[in-house]
Amino acid sequence: MIARKKVRVWDLPTRLFHWLLVLAFVLAWATHDDSRHLDIHIISGYTFFALLMFRLVWGVVGSHYARFSEFSYTPKELFSYLRSLPGNGVKHYVGHNPAGAWAIFVLLTLGLLLAISGVIVLGGEEQQGILAGYISFDQSAPFSMLHETVAWAMVVLIVIHICGVIVESVLHRENLVGAMFRGTKWVAGSSAQIPAHQLVASVILISVIAWGGLSLNTYLAATDEHPYQPFKGPALAMNELWNEECGACHLAFHPSLLPARSWQYLFEQQDNHFQEELMLDDETLNELLQYALNNSAEQKKTEAAWKINRAIGRDERPLQITAVSYWKDKHSAISDITWQQEAVQSKANCGACHYDAEQGTFQDAAMRIPSE
Ligand code: HEC
Ligand code: HEC
Repeated sequence: MIARKKVRVWDLPTRLFHWLLVLAFVLAWATHDDSRHLDIHIISGYTFFALLMFRLVWGVVGSHYARFSEFSYTPKELFSYLRSLPGNGVKHYVGHNPAGAWAIFVLLTLGLLLAISGVIVLGGEEQQGILAGYISFDQSAPFSMLHETVAWAMVVLIVIHICGVIVESVLHRENLVGAMFRGTKWVAGSSAQIPAHQLVASVILISVIAWGGLSLNTYLAATDEHPYQPFKGPALAMNELWNEECGACHLAFHPSLLPARSWQYLFEQQDNHFQEELMLDDETLNELLQYALNNSAEQKKTEAAWKINRAIGRDERPLQITAVSYWKDKHSAISDITWQQEAVQSKANCGACHYDAEQGTFQDAAMRIPSE
């Protein structure tokens, strides 16, 4: 019988990194589907990114078992480990075993891809973050696909990783989850203690709490005029005559919300505009039409414009934004009670729920449903 002693294997920064990364991923995953919570998605995404960057550095300068060099196994070592799994002679590793190590390297790579594609999509689709204004909707589209695919791949890998932890825990009668909390393992022979690195851990913890608290505070304190994530892309073109003529009965819908052929058709029918007569003289009509054609959805100046344009068939020319499938999809979860509210009344009353309806940007941060 070899004497076993309790040694610290995972230093504090590595454990903190692990659990904070889990938290950031879960938060980002939980908010990925709802545009109204895009802010939380972005806060957790940045946190995730920063944690990964730390881990890359820590994998070089961190304590013994946290170093990448300590758990770089060749594919051959991985397969021979996996082949030995069903039997009793499975080799016991103090740090990561080859399967765990490979899972970590793949997770780190996917994580980086996820974070980088996220920043690109944020810049292109939302015109926010450091790439706002530098990248167009079309350019960011493939990264949006990549972002989603990588996120799913990570979910699959996380499930495999958890299964691996369970298998290894059972095989070696060892509580690996507990070890990732406490940092210690029972180890045979003379393994050296590693330092806890409390100072580095405190810096990480304080930074994450400070950054999270600060972002959340700004997010909660956001007002109609100052949304948390402002649109940083180039402002949309405005036209006073348009706002005056088309804003008399309803919101002056920005021309970027329908394609050029729709506007053309709307003006052709100006004497029967939803049972109203617009009575525009030729000169006014021409100026309005010109402005509409120059700034129509085809110009793809905002996410809404880009997606509306994409959703309308070449042979269609809808007169209503609210008839476009993209619009319908985005608003399908809103109940009839909400539409009938005093503050809303019509689906076309965009400004009731979108602070930036007049600017035409329709960004996620500027959205709310009026309370009943
Ligand atoms: C005399 C009043 C009046 C004026 C002026 C007016 N509209 Fe309208 N418009 C209406 C009415 C009424 C509706 C139907 C509203 C509803 O469905 O709630 C409508 C609906 C629309 C819609 C469809 C909204 C949707 O459901 O997606 C568009 C687009 C539109 N108008 C564009 C314009 C433009 C462009 C101008 C300026 C050239 C203009 N309107 C001027 C009365 C007006
Ligand atoms: C009753 C409130 C309400 C009204 C009125 C309303 N919207 Fe919305 N809109 C929402 C909500 C809530 C969402 C977010 C849906 C989601 O979570 O994806 C949304 C999403 C959107 C989006 C997608 C934004 C994005 O980036 O995901 C666009 C574009 C949009 N609305 C345009 C319009 C236009 C144009 C009008 C008027 C014709 C309008 N909305 C009227 C509540 C409303």
